[in-house]
Amino acid sequence: SRTVAEPYKIKMVETIKTTTPDYRSWAIREAGYNTFLLRSEDVYIDLLTDSGTSAMSDNQWAGMMLGDESYAGARNFYNLERAVREIYGFQHVIPTHQGRAAEHITSQLRIEPGQFVPMNMYFTTTREHAERAGGTFVDCIVDEAHDAASEFPFKGNVDLAKLRRIVDEHGADSIAYLSIAPSVNMAGGQPMSMANLREVSEWARAHQVAIIFDATRAVENAYFIQRREAGYADKTVRDILREMMSYGEGCTMSSKKDNLVNIGGFLATNNEQFATAAKEMVVIFEGLHTYGGMAGRDMEAVARGIYEMVDDAYIASRVQQVEYLGGRLRDAGVPVVLPIGGHAVFLDARRFLPDIPDDQFQAQSLAAHLYVDSGVRGMERGMVSAGRDPVTGDHHRPKLSLVRLTIPRRAYTNLHMDVVAESCIALHRERDKIRGLRMVHEPRSLRFFQARFELL
Ligand code: F0G
Repeated sequence: SRTVAEPYKIKMVETIKTTTPDYRSWAIREAGYNTFLLRSEDVYIDLLTDSGTSAMSDNQWAGMMLGDESYAGARNFYNLERAVREIYGFQHVIPTHQGRAAEHITSQLRIEPGQFVPMNMYFTTTREHAERAGGTFVDCIVDEAHDAASEFPFKGNVDLAKLRRIVDEHGADSIAYLSIAPSVNMAGGQPMSMANLREVSEWARAHQVAIIFDATRAVENAYFIQRREAGYADKTVRDILREMMSYGEGCTMSSKKDNLVNIGGFLATNNEQFATAAKEMVVIFEGLHTYGGMAGRDMEAVARGIYEMVDDAYIASRVQQVEYLGGRLRDAGVPVVLPIGGHAVFLDARRFLPDIPDDQFQAQSLAAHLYVDSGVRGMERGMVSAGRDPVTGDHHRPKLSLVRLTIPRRAYTNLHMDVVAESCIALHRERDKIRGLRMVHEPRSLRFFQARFELL
């Protein structure tokens, strides 16, 4: 088959700096072996996150000039509201400065202390907000998601047996709501199937439990459904997304991912009572309900990004770039989570560095060494990210110990991906030279952002 190129061309460029390995050894030591604490200037290819790092289009930049910076009722809010209604199908839209602010409001309003909040795997900020509201996170993802080597195509699926167990033991009233994320970041960017979503929604309706999506990367999930699920090959990603969202009451959203902007988010719902309460609360924590912490221009960029993200050619090219990097690593025998996910390639640090035990943070160390090798910045997604159990105080010990190489949207070329692949392959060959780490500073919550380490 013929090569299909990116459905856009480059109009503006940003120079990136190259550095020497000696300099990078110094820089990572200064950063406490935590890639979050590096200066971005010292990074060559930045795969820390796909959050807020995408390239905006000329259409979005043009929209930025049309920002209506009125305090109340800015025209850009109504554009955002229309985009969310048309593309996601939720009527009430409350802007927030980013995703975690929508999670904060949702958790505070919808969780009674002592209730359970089932999620298809945890996400760091989502779980943190649920716990702060007195909720208890319950993992209800299928077992395949915890197995880096399983090639199950829908590792984001919810395991209904895990939901039934909560109801059998504690009753349906013990569940605040289902927080369902298509696709699942911490599982490796893995999608859920429409069939599973339909089943979960039938179960939820029968038990009168609400589904509130974390729609952060739902478009990437919609693309996987188009590619992998019977009956969806001829549907547009736009229609698939709309069907997915129809199974929920609303969503929290980090616009910094799918929506192709550098900052922004929202809470959207078809539940009028919830929307009214959320509007009251957003005023306290974020700003008036027609801006919620965003400038008018930023809301305009989100509104336009929402229409761009459902372009079939764009989303195919985005996910295929991730598959390109993942395929190169897999073919070279570098251990990665399979299938390759929608936003990132995840190195399986336990198989990459089998001699470094969990207590020496093999994934944290691998991310640090990758940076020293080539200036490529990834992020630990293992025991450091998982934090500690609030009750016992022990480390959470997730089955996955990963380094995430997250691909910003529309920002890098496949030659950049080749540089990343060559660095991972070289490091894998020299893996016996990599040592573990000791944690010397540990913040109490979301420790991965600011924790510091020393080389053993
Ligand atoms: N939900 C998911 C699935 C996320 O991946 C993120 C952010 C959030 C919620 C929170 O949104 O950052 O706008 O407040 N993930 C980023 C990442 C930080 O790098 O994966 P936010």
